[in-house]
Amino acid sequence: MFYYLVRHVNMVAIAYYTITGQTEQFINKTGLVAHKIDDMKPEYQMGEKYILVLPSYQDFMMDSVVDFITYKDNKKNLIGLIGCGNRNFNDLFAQTAKKISATLNIPILYLLELSGNSTDVKNVKQIINNLSQNTSNSGNDVKKVNRPNEIGNISFLSDYRQ
Ligand SMILES: Cc1cc2nc3c(=O)[nH]c(=O)nc-3n(C[C@H](O)[C@H](O)[C@H](O)COP(=O)(O)O)c2cc1C
Repeated sequence: MFYYLVRHVNMVAIAYYTITGQTEQFINKTGLVAHKIDDMKPEYQMGEKYILVLPSYQDFMMDSVVDFITYKDNKKNLIGLIGCGNRNFNDLFAQTAKKISATLNIPILYLLELSGNSTDVKNVKQIINNLSQNTSNSGNDVKKVNRPNEIGNISFLSDYRQ
């Protein structure tokens, strides 16, 4: 019960997706409480404002994420994205977060590679703390965060359902 109260008073909710476990490792390193999107049952209602942490793959591998985002009011409650990827993919680095951002007009709060390094852990915890202090479940007083400079060109848009 105490744990529940602490999370809801101090912290914006988090959802994440992982296929090979790197994003999960990153979440574990931060120690943050987060909902894992489950391929067997992606439909889960967050019911409050949240940020989504997700890796990057081709669109056809992200069906669970699309099913999750489009479930009930999850799209409305999504306030920010943290994109994980691998810079070896060059222009396609963090393509999934970039596409969702461009399609749904959701800010990208941070981009990182694989399971992140200690700087990424520190930065993301800071971002979550800032958002927690500026987010209420009733209002839209979300802290505005600039897009990273490196967002680059989005070569194509997938059909993330509106
Ligand atoms: C088949 C495959 C495709 C990938 N495509 C991309 C990509 O387009 N852009 C990118 O930045 N990273 C890409 N990656 C790297 C993953 O996004 C990265 O390793 C991520 O940390 C994996 O997260 P996960 O282990 O939580 O699934 C790809 C990896 C694989 C195996």
